[in-house]
Amino acid sequence: MNFNQSNMKKAKKYLDNKECIAVPTETVYGLAANAYSSVAVKKIYNLKKRPKSNPLIVHYAKLSDLKKDCFINNDFLKLYKKFCPGPITFILKLKKNSKISKLVTNNNKTLAVRFPNHKILKKLLNFLNYPLAAPSANITTSLSAVKASDVKEEFGKKINYILDGGKSRIGLESTIISLIKIPKILRLGGLEISKIKKVLKKKIYININPQKKIAPGQSSLHYSPGIPLRIKINKPKINEAYVLLKKKKIYSPHYYYLSKNNNLKEAAKNLYSCLRKIKNKGYKSIAVEKIPNVGIGKSINDRLKRASKF
Ligand code: TXA
Ligand code: MG
Repeated sequence: MNFNQSNMKKAKKYLDNKECIAVPTETVYGLAANAYSSVAVKKIYNLKKRPKSNPLIVHYAKLSDLKKDCFINNDFLKLYKKFCPGPITFILKLKKNSKISKLVTNNNKTLAVRFPNHKILKKLLNFLNYPLAAPSANITTSLSAVKASDVKEEFGKKINYILDGGKSRIGLESTIISLIKIPKILRLGGLEISKIKKVLKKKIYININPQKKIAPGQSSLHYSPGIPLRIKINKPKINEAYVLLKKKKIYSPHYYYLSKNNNLKEAAKNLYSCLRKIKNKGYKSIAVEKIPNVGIGKSINDRLKRASKF
């Protein structure tokens, strides 16, 4: 559904009735439900086929609302002031008297929180009297959705309602940072680590591939188009879809471009939709050329590497 006042009301009605709906964010689309209601949150896990052991991110519009549920600290405040709303998720200590459903956290004492930067979602959040738990709006381990039509493709008739907010501006999930003890990156994403470093001015640990998984977004089988994907390829095989960073002079119907002109931000935005398109065309495998491992390119490579484990 496109955005207008009456759609906003409909969305609120579904959510107030403890149903889940799809919402746009600047990173990827989310499958959202009332984070204070276990009945509602349970529906997210079922619809996504997500194991209950994989906790959800809770989305807020206001800092004052977050403070009801979590303890904040100085590192958080610095990053919040600089980057929120935006593509960063914080792991914080959960307050004992918080109303967050235990299903959201899998009974843990920490909570993942985020302030999404999308006009429609911000409006919706301000309209509700509870925050929204929302994982990416895709079936577990498959490609994330960056458009309303992608969500439809993932869930078909099983989804009640999709608020259409156009194509997600960033196209990759948020960067996750744990601020429980020392700052620790748990997932690469839409916000570059170098920018976070500049603000915190201290050592930041990176723990995106731990032995013992903390965030299942860290699991290797993730973000997969459902067909084999090979990375850092110079020469594709015959009939293999070949994904390139920028348009080449040679023409082949099997070539797909992530950006017009070597632009990594544009490539990030187009990555999931490009892979989805290739999968839908019926290709049996995908080859991707080497993507520079700088800036947001690191997050692109993280997703490609995980997708290549299929
Ligand atoms: O950009 C995004 O973050 C999108 C949009 C919709 O906001 N959401 C998203 O959610 O990517 P999801 O559920 O697909 O990924 C959330 C990741 C999971 O890997 C989960 O394990 C991790 O966050 N996570 C959630 N709670 C956590 C916690 N308390 N400690 C560590 N990791 C946590
Ligand atoms: Mg996800």
